[in-house]
Amino acid sequence: MIKIRNLWKKFDKMEVLKGMDLDVNTGETLVILGPSGIGKSVLLKHIIGITKPDEGSIYIDNVCISDIKGADLYKAIKHMGMLFQGGALFDSMNVEENVSFYLDQHGDPKTGKRYPRKEIAERVAQALEMVGLAGTQKKMPSDLSGGMRKRAALARLIVYRPSIVLYDEPTTGLDPITAMQINELIVKTQKELKATSIVVTHDMFSALYVGDRLALIRDGKIAHIAEPDPFLKIQDPLIEFLHNSISKDPRTMKENANGRTN
Ligand SMILES: Nc1ncnc2c1ncn2[C@@H]1O[C@H](COP(=O)(O)OP(=O)(O)O)[C@@H](O)[C@H]1O
Ligand SMILES: [Mg+2]
Repeated sequence: MIKIRNLWKKFDKMEVLKGMDLDVNTGETLVILGPSGIGKSVLLKHIIGITKPDEGSIYIDNVCISDIKGADLYKAIKHMGMLFQGGALFDSMNVEENVSFYLDQHGDPKTGKRYPRKEIAERVAQALEMVGLAGTQKKMPSDLSGGMRKRAALARLIVYRPSIVLYDEPTTGLDPITAMQINELIVKTQKELKATSIVVTHDMFSALYVGDRLALIRDGKIAHIAEPDPFLKIQDPLIEFLHNSISKDPRTMKENANGRTN
């Protein structure tokens, strides 16, 4: 479980987070909505421990990561993964080297031992298959389309089997078909890893497709948080605007997708 209490962060004089409280339940997918520049990426960077708050606490499974550094922090966050906005790959490495990067670097999280080559190759192949990129091991990032790069970045994340996965605007800038593939992959990843996921987006279609609960950030705090149906009923101009931005409810498509074999 992720627990955030009274989180404050400012850059120069600009207050971005202003006493934010938030609970994310184990195994759920929480979507965080809000306009650009409101502090969504800043919030994720606090959760993964790369930004420190001015005040407040972040607990990951009861460990307060905002108070720790170095090896202790590394240990507390190594079961977490983040798909960064842009989802960058290392340009000079092929897909296989990119996807195996963290496995190679970290080894087995329990024993610290390096994985045998064969096991790494098998896990990379599995992760690539899961994201629909089977057989692309030797391709370079420049050979891939934007959507394929995003999926390869997702494979690099899931190969490590993180128990907490953070997605920063995973569908932004993608065409609708590629965006839908990413939405399906987020649901599939959550199911296969049984991970706790946080998806930051301003894409309402994606939010309803992947989210167990939806939250709206406003003025440095969580203004609303609820399951999809009650969330859509909240009287708030921004929620009404977001709701009106989609022409149909993507959850109906999800039922179809689940029934499909692929
Ligand atoms: N490292 C930083 N230094 C200065 N300002 C920052 C930094 N990171 C974020 N900000 C500012 O904080 C605000 C929130 O940023 P961000 O979380 O990236 O917004 P978004 O909701 O679009 O993800 C923005 O005004 C941004 O310019
Ligand atoms: Mg952002």
